[in-house]
Amino acid sequence: MSASLASVSYLGAAILFILCLGGLSNQETARRGNFYGVLGMTIAVLATVFGPRVAAAGLPWIIGAMVVGGAVGLYLARVVKMTQMPELVAFMHSLVGLAACLVGFASYIDTSIAYTGAEKAIHEIEIYVGILIGAVTFSGSVVAFGKLSGKIGGKPLLLPGRHLINLFGLLVVLYYGYAFLQVDSISAGMVPLMVMTVISLFFGVHMVMAIGGADMPVVVSMLNSYSGWAAAATGFMLSNDLLIVTGALVGSSGAILSYIMCNAMNRNFISVIAGGFGSDGGAPKAAASGAVQPAGEVTPVSSVETAELLREAKSVIIVPGYGMAVAQAQHTVFEITSHLRAKGVNVRFAIHPVAGRMPGHMNVLLAEAKVPYDIVMEMDEINDDFPDTDVVMVIGANDIVNPAAQEDPASPIAGMPVLEVWKAKTSIVMKRSMASGYAGVDNPLFYKDNNRMLFGDAKKMLDEVLVALKA
Ligand code: TAP
Repeated sequence: MSASLASVSYLGAAILFILCLGGLSNQETARRGNFYGVLGMTIAVLATVFGPRVAAAGLPWIIGAMVVGGAVGLYLARVVKMTQMPELVAFMHSLVGLAACLVGFASYIDTSIAYTGAEKAIHEIEIYVGILIGAVTFSGSVVAFGKLSGKIGGKPLLLPGRHLINLFGLLVVLYYGYAFLQVDSISAGMVPLMVMTVISLFFGVHMVMAIGGADMPVVVSMLNSYSGWAAAATGFMLSNDLLIVTGALVGSSGAILSYIMCNAMNRNFISVIAGGFGSDGGAPKAAASGAVQPAGEVTPVSSVETAELLREAKSVIIVPGYGMAVAQAQHTVFEITSHLRAKGVNVRFAIHPVAGRMPGHMNVLLAEAKVPYDIVMEMDEINDDFPDTDVVMVIGANDIVNPAAQEDPASPIAGMPVLEVWKAKTSIVMKRSMASGYAGVDNPLFYKDNNRMLFGDAKKMLDEVLVALKA
């Protein structure tokens, strides 16, 4: 392939990646977005492998590695469960970081291009920064994988004087960066490069070990961003424009996603990164924070009574949460929705940005169950409609419908945007017990006069509701 055809292919792939990100921002266009991404990556790989910079002698090695890597990827994609996606993503980020480190060292010892003067300095800075970002991403992602898969405990590790340790490490990295630029031989340059790599690996481990289980999804999104910057750095080292563009797209979209998640959880991004929050896999308990404990009686309801309330309703909003995912109740939810819609009931879904355990968790489950996209609403689109709604069915959700976020300034989740389900005429909460949700705080919604509790596994209860509805 000629150099100009390779450049045009890279441009086409970059445009397809941008269209991919645009498509993925909306469920209706997500499939198309995914297709653009696959097409762009296919073009990018072909243009690179058969491009002018790969010698024919190297092709068997590259194709062999692609077959092995492709087979592993295909196998993992087939066996991974939806709930294991965050750990798989963390694992893949670690590979991007590792690749950036290896490319950095390879570029440094590669003498085929003789850099001099300013070009040499720029090339060495690219290598130094690329390995630094790559090493932080690699070790941070390995620890994130360990925490998410339960191989490492979720409790944050808070070393005494940890911020000072980080500051000292940063100063050493800057010092050796200066030393690295001064040396003339590769063997002399290896010393500062290795010292910086070891410190960067420590940075990654230290940063993620200090973050509690509750904040891990934000950390995975942040590492996603880092892996993008690591890829962009690799692009600079290899003078590959497409890798620079793609890395920047991944880096910036990961950073935006982290920001959105922090906002939806009412967490400060800097405090997430600084670590120490979310011990024991959840936020601080309400009792310790001086938050008002909800009081009163809850009103239990049966599945038959639930069906009766739904049958009499003209408008219904369904709020799915993590419990729906655990119970795998989405298909029954779809059947109930279809049944009610066939009877003329206006049924819609309200999706909180951090419902479940990963971005888009509920949307994916509902799409899998074939719930039409046009009745699945974002929180901002539907929050004002609760007062005009007859029945709200909260299926395995807790924190995202907790009125304490608005009513109790001392609550650990005070200020978190929530779905205002208590404003509906009747709300029905389906869960197995009075246990708290992810944030570990009590929920005053359960005690409200217009709220009913349907206790039991969401799938089992919804199956009973469906039978009663059809009776
Ligand atoms: P949660 O607040 O975690 O509540 C889920 C509820 O589901 C639990 O109270 C549990 O109560 C119930 N449940 C569990 N298994 C069930 C089953 N088989 N049948 C019925 N109910 C079941 O979930 P949420 O309302 O979706 O809120 C999400 C939380 O995760 C937020 O605190 C959010 O900040 C956090 N978070 C989300 C993300 C993303 S990106 N989505 C990332 C990080 C953190 P029982 O045990 O009584 O059944």
